[in-house]
Amino acid sequence: VVFAADRQSDLHKIAEGLRPEFVIAVRGHVRRRPEGSLNLKMPTGEIEVEASSVEILNEAKTPPFEIVADINVNEDSRLKYRYLDLRRPPMQRNLVTRHKLIQVFREYFDRNGFVDVETPTMTRSTPGGARNYLVPSRVWPGTFYGLSESPQIFKQLLMVSGFDRYFQVVKCFRDEDLRADRQPEFTQFDLEMSFVQADDVMDVVEGGVEEAFGKLRGVKLPRPFPRMSYAEAMARFGTDKPDLRYGMELSDVSGALKETGFRVVKEVLAAGGAVKAMCAPGCGGYSRKETDALTTFVQGYGAKGLVPLKVEAEALAGQTAKFFSPAEQAALRAAVGAQEGDMIFMVADASDLAAQSLGALRMHLAEKLGMVKADEYRPLWVVDFPLFEFSKEENALVARHHPFTSPKDEDLALLDSKPLSVRAKAYDLVLNGVELGGGSIRIHRQELQRKMFTLLGISDEEARSKFSFLLDAFEFGAPPHGGIALGVDRFVMLLLGLDHIRDVIAFPKTQKAMCLMTGAPGTVTPRQLQELNVRVVAPPPKPA
Ligand code: AMO
Repeated sequence: VVFAADRQSDLHKIAEGLRPEFVIAVRGHVRRRPEGSLNLKMPTGEIEVEASSVEILNEAKTPPFEIVADINVNEDSRLKYRYLDLRRPPMQRNLVTRHKLIQVFREYFDRNGFVDVETPTMTRSTPGGARNYLVPSRVWPGTFYGLSESPQIFKQLLMVSGFDRYFQVVKCFRDEDLRADRQPEFTQFDLEMSFVQADDVMDVVEGGVEEAFGKLRGVKLPRPFPRMSYAEAMARFGTDKPDLRYGMELSDVSGALKETGFRVVKEVLAAGGAVKAMCAPGCGGYSRKETDALTTFVQGYGAKGLVPLKVEAEALAGQTAKFFSPAEQAALRAAVGAQEGDMIFMVADASDLAAQSLGALRMHLAEKLGMVKADEYRPLWVVDFPLFEFSKEENALVARHHPFTSPKDEDLALLDSKPLSVRAKAYDLVLNGVELGGGSIRIHRQELQRKMFTLLGISDEEARSKFSFLLDAFEFGAPPHGGIALGVDRFVMLLLGLDHIRDVIAFPKTQKAMCLMTGAPGTVTPRQLQELNVRVVAPPPKPA
């Protein structure tokens, strides 16, 4: 906007008082900018407005940070003044992308015959799964609603009700420890289908994901998405959400080292553990300090140690190389495909721990070595998850997915004898190492559902009191059914290549589950507590 000092001194005077973030109304003539002052980088860089009037609609204090694309301020300040942070172009882009993704999905699922049904947010708190947020009932003193951690049971009931295909963009609430890709309230694309097999669910979801990447990123994802069993993912990548954009796969070298004289390895193998190895290309020159740092890194994942072996032309080198015979060294090199100049890393430990810690190191090194291609997208279905896992905390079997997931037919016979070997009809959609979604074919028969509850240590009485409606519903002709939920927030993060879930949520919570803008969670008045029949017990003092 041009305020001509010579011709319109009044206007010019007002204009001099304008400051960043003032809200103004200007009238004037739009004209082409004179040659020399064109700015082709700006969408409006070829024109200007010669002002004939200006009105200040609202003034603005100096904002706590500059409203520009790149700022370097701490996130607390951005979250406290979120309404200003959201003015910045990247945040506008993030939320617009989120909006567009939701549009694409809604349209896709509508076109494929899915019906959007809303399910309750305030429901019964259920055992198992995530910790629920609780809402005290005023009308029924001493009772609580649980905020829905997902519409799981409701969507299954909708199948019993004859809605063959259900879809919902739904808020879910989970009181769990937060991470870079977790929020206490987050959004799912949730769906359920009747008379389907796992393949049908995966196929329809792939179509939606393909369409979203095509429309919003111009990226063509290869279909069908590849599939890998949980067991293979753990063995090759040490994680159930492998990032396929780079190699450095793990190998189990327990066999090659079964006769070894190296005491640490010998003891682990004797105790039924495993030795996992991987090859870091070109890292043979790492200093002691660098390998020590990597040891500390895997120790963070519970491993007792890390064995680095430098790959030289003839032999392996390093502190522990002397413990391995030439034949063992050759077998190690061959197992991980090492070349001169590489570094072999090994972890000997309980099998899962060895795999998981080395899998974490694999991701860490890939970042460090610049092997992660930001504009490559590698979707993957991980299938055949174990139905149960053993929880040390609860000293009991817990459902790996949730208690409504169906065992695989061929593993039914193992339910009593070897429950930990039973595989589930469950599938996770993984993209570039991020778990984007998870779902399963469900149990639709009452006897099997009861049996699941029993195996999970949920007594008949508890099952009746908490899930009677579901068990009852299964007595009235429940069709076979299955579904999945994708994390909308994570989906947007992946589309935009972002690392933090907070950047794709308009008003997110901090790592400590607080909203810095509104101050939630906050205390309430004694009167409110009284109405709810709730008494607050002071927390125990923190240890000094
Ligand atoms: P699940 O618990 O695997 O499955 O959740 C599905 C997807 O939701 C996303 N997600 C989260 N995103 C952000 N913050 C969180 N705290 C969070 N927790 C989960 C992930 C995850 O893959 N009812 C089942 C689905 C089904 O079986 O159909 C369920 O909720 O992307």
